[in-house]
Amino acid sequence: MTGCPAAFPIRAFFLSAPIMSQHIKLFIPGPIEVSPGTFAAMAQPMIGHRSKDFQNLYAEIQPQLQTLFGTKQQVFLSTSSAWGVMEGSIRNLVKKKVLNCCCGAFSDKWLDVSRRCGKEAEAYQVEWGQPILAEEIEKRLATGEFDAMTLIHNETSTGVLNPLTEIAALKKKFPDVMFIVDSVSGFTTVPVAFDELGIDVLLTGSQKALAMPPGLALFAASEAAFQRAAEMTDRGYYFDFIEFRSNGEKSMTPSTPCISLIYGLRHQLGVILAEGPENRYARHAKLNGMVHDWVQRNGFEFFAPEGYRSKALTCVANNRDIDVAKLNANLKADHHLVIDGGYGKLKGKTFRISNMGDETEETISSLLASLDDALAKL
Ligand SMILES: Cc1ncc(COP(=O)(O)O)c(C=O)c1O
Repeated sequence: MTGCPAAFPIRAFFLSAPIMSQHIKLFIPGPIEVSPGTFAAMAQPMIGHRSKDFQNLYAEIQPQLQTLFGTKQQVFLSTSSAWGVMEGSIRNLVKKKVLNCCCGAFSDKWLDVSRRCGKEAEAYQVEWGQPILAEEIEKRLATGEFDAMTLIHNETSTGVLNPLTEIAALKKKFPDVMFIVDSVSGFTTVPVAFDELGIDVLLTGSQKALAMPPGLALFAASEAAFQRAAEMTDRGYYFDFIEFRSNGEKSMTPSTPCISLIYGLRHQLGVILAEGPENRYARHAKLNGMVHDWVQRNGFEFFAPEGYRSKALTCVANNRDIDVAKLNANLKADHHLVIDGGYGKLKGKTFRISNMGDETEETISSLLASLDDALAKL
């Protein structure tokens, strides 16, 4: 007979599992390092997703999620990566035409996704590395053509932090336009207060500054967003906002969720709130500043202009024309860590260093010392 003995000990499973390859610490801008505490929290017995235990778990984390999202609305859990909710937002909220603000790989892709969803979509395109500007959005929305817009708060491919507060202020002038904001890599590195900003959707993913494994997306939606969604006839099922809301009212999700990740989330929320959101933002700013000092000390430049630089990662312009692939190979071989060698068309022309998640002054100092060593060996 095959199958597990009744009381199959988790330890026995780990001991019998193949030995993992060497741990290479990730300083790429997601997925990032996950703590042993989070992994341990995930390794708990399964519960039924329609059980009281699950409802308790869902309800228990709501206040913490609401604190981080800056909202009194419920925060929804989607068993998908962020793209699921990004595509879902388009399907739920775009009736007429969407303005996709494009400034890098993820924001450009959102335009493509809008069109693949069969929507009329137009790009407000800036050169990669440049920010999205509120006045440019305003000009376009003033045409009256659009009933939705998308913005990537922190464009991970270029290291640009867009001026979300100024952009969100436009919502007052254009109340019928759905403001859909991806803060996938910005979330918990800088404040994003959903209610105060008055935006319609704020979404993020688990594998960035929340320092969890990938596979869970989180989002909040405004009352106006639900009203718009209710008018749409082709919302589909898996990412139907109305399904999320009606299930959320019962502290449940529309379909079977990634319960292990939600256990991990509960643990991470405890860690984040014990630190305190303000302290977490300050720590990200400080660690990001340490990386910036390293960049300048070594004669490199920043890809993003001053005033629009991410606090989650640094996108370094390779103005010294170093061999980025070799730098990363040195880091991996000698220091068991990796950074990112540049996204898409920026490969080799830039490299990116993440300071997201649970990093400390000590771990970032050690990373920078490793970078010095790897650079010296080029
Ligand atoms: C800003 C941003 N948006 C969206 C995504 C897509 O996330 P996922 O691949 O987890 O769906 C990413 C991934 O890196 C990202 O950085």
